[in-house]
Amino acid sequence: MFVNRQKELRLLEEEYLNSNFRFTIVYGRRRVGKTTLLKEYISAKPYIYFLVTLEALPTVIERFQNLVADFLEDEFLREIKFKSFEQIFSYLVKQNLSKKVVVVIDEFQYLGKLDMSIRQEKPTKISKIVLRNL
Ligand SMILES: Nc1ncnc2c1ncn2[C@@H]1O[C@H](COP(=O)(O)OP(=O)(O)O)[C@@H](O)[C@H]1O
Ligand SMILES: [Mg+2]
Repeated sequence: MFVNRQKELRLLEEEYLNSNFRFTIVYGRRRVGKTTLLKEYISAKPYIYFLVTLEALPTVIERFQNLVADFLEDEFLREIKFKSFEQIFSYLVKQNLSKKVVVVIDEFQYLGKLDMSIRQEKPTKISKIVLRNL
């Protein structure tokens, strides 16, 4: 059962309703409920949920690429060789999507270790949501 995160869910919904691209970081200690919150948030929306693991970068990129290909139902995408996450994101934003999609990157901190292009990204606006213990 999902409990007690109404405020955080509301903040995420506000992000979703914004008409611009949003980059939102959810912070909090281990086991505080970040993954649970995010899964609740995306449950009734178009989403791509990606869990970063400490595998080799090409493996992680390929896994993300295949998730995006599943979402877009784009078989051609599987055949492209990407060098970075940034390239996959560029591909995704160039699509003429009819619906807003939420891309969740869980354990995002691993990505900065694997893919330097992520750290160079400077989104215009970053929102932060900090989770405290329930
Ligand atoms: N809002 C919630 N309601 C009920 N159980 C929760 C809630 N948030 C987290 N939990 C439980 O707490 C544990 C840790 O949550 P998790 O989302 O994995 O934390 P995190 O991703 O921050 O490490 C899980 O067993 C999860 O089911
Ligand atoms: Mg988690």
